[in-house]
Amino acid sequence: MATRVTWLGHAAFQVETNGTKILIDPFLSGQPSPPCKPDEVEANFILVSHGHADHVGDTVEIAKRTGATVIANFEIVNWLQQQGVQKVHPQHIGGAYRHPFGKVKLTIAHHGSGLPDGSYGGNPAGFLLYLPEGNLYFAGDTALTLDMQLIGEEGVKLALLPIGDNFTMGPDDALRAVKLLKPARVVPMHYNTWPLIAQDPHAWADRVRKETSAEPVVLELGQSVDL
Ligand code: NI
Ligand code: MN
Repeated sequence: MATRVTWLGHAAFQVETNGTKILIDPFLSGQPSPPCKPDEVEANFILVSHGHADHVGDTVEIAKRTGATVIANFEIVNWLQQQGVQKVHPQHIGGAYRHPFGKVKLTIAHHGSGLPDGSYGGNPAGFLLYLPEGNLYFAGDTALTLDMQLIGEEGVKLALLPIGDNFTMGPDDALRAVKLLKPARVVPMHYNTWPLIAQDPHAWADRVRKETSAEPVVLELGQSVDL
């Protein structure tokens, strides 16, 4: 059995772990060139890191069609229920829960979380997934934070980090994040979706390779990496 992580563009990933399909921040139809359509993806669980439209994305449509359980902070799952999503699991920053596929903990993210219609979306989060093959850390939209050192102490096998700058960490701070997290491997995300967050992921990967002990993995749209 294995865990496979597939980049669906921007901050959207599919994690397939021992037969369970998990979508993270499934913003698909809004991408300039999405690798797949919302009606093409399968999900047993959907994780939503914060309320911004480029992360909530197509969650409502996908959850209604697939019957997936949405895991997000308390405020976001309440809002999703108002949109007609039936299966939800509220958590909050620092809280972990053992789901059927593994434990999930919400981590600190320094960012905003307003929902698409202006509703209050609580605090933004990242996710630490404790999976059979190791820990997967999805940082969400965040600034560099020293709390990443604490996450690193838990042991991170694969980290998914924003490098786009402007709204989140840029390449310099994402490199410092790698030094705090000490992951075995790191995948950049949240870049090149729009000109405002244009970055060269390969130049960043070269710096990661030279300055840290982590192995950078630059994914193309729809490409996968095994945990
Ligand atoms: Ni955001
Ligand atoms: Mn974002």
